[in-house]
Amino acid sequence: MTTDSNAQTTSSVDKSGRAIQEMFAGVAPRYDLLNHVLSGWLDHWWRRRAAAALAPRPGEEVLDLCCGTGDQAVQLARRGAKVVAADFCLPMLSLAQPKLRRLSPRKDSPSPQLAAADALCLPFASDRFSAATVSFGLRNVADLDRSLAELCRVLRPGGRLVVLEFTIPEPRLIRAAYLFYFQKILPRIGRLISPRGWAYNYLPDSVVEFPQRQSFLDRMAAADFTELRYDEQSAGTVCIYSAQTVPSGGSQ
Ligand SMILES: C[S@@+](CC[C@H](N)C(=O)[O-])C[C@H]1O[C@@H](n2cnc3c(N)ncnc32)[C@H](O)[C@@H]1O
Repeated sequence: MTTDSNAQTTSSVDKSGRAIQEMFAGVAPRYDLLNHVLSGWLDHWWRRRAAAALAPRPGEEVLDLCCGTGDQAVQLARRGAKVVAADFCLPMLSLAQPKLRRLSPRKDSPSPQLAAADALCLPFASDRFSAATVSFGLRNVADLDRSLAELCRVLRPGGRLVVLEFTIPEPRLIRAAYLFYFQKILPRIGRLISPRGWAYNYLPDSVVEFPQRQSFLDRMAAADFTELRYDEQSAGTVCIYSAQTVPSGGSQ
């Protein structure tokens, strides 16, 4: 497995490859439970919406990058996609494996394939996939621009990308209430449920400093993506970003 994402960024949270791998390895056993509890079980809905936004065609080969325990891959597979689910944290991948087997997609479509892969240096040929998703993943990579460039490389011309990511609501009152929950309550619940609950201090910090809405679209545009848009979900606590690579023969 490549671990060359150990480079530091200017982020105030430690996003070195090793720190992120260790953090997710630590929370892996309780990761799904915490996701459901902390989101009030909305995470299933967000992932379904992201899969619907990508709208994979049956048999289409789709990359789910930073797949974690595989919940987004399951949604894609249920829509008939041929999913390659990639992550650089082996304990997360080993939880994904039985789940993907158990929640096997339609009988006529293949089970998702798992790949140990670093988002900063993807072990896939250029132009391989016609579509890709990243759910709650890009916020954690050490170098956002490089991982977007890698996604652009492995997508075919005209390939679709859907990114699901937390955002901070914009209306003042909702924002204040949300930040109170996110920064004061959520880390406590995290510590109660997971022995590595300190990772749930990292979550709000990483969301607050990650580019949101138009700023994230600007980063995708800088990586040569086009047809950029975002759709807010659940009062703006989550955004579904959609983009495409430049079609062959197309110009920007
Ligand atoms: C918050 S989890 C999201 C998992 C899953 N996509 C979901 O929706 O639940 C973030 C995942 O990104 C992975 N990740 C972070 N940086 C990565 C990198 N550079 N390369 C590959 N995976 C990475 C972590 O190992 C972790 O499994």
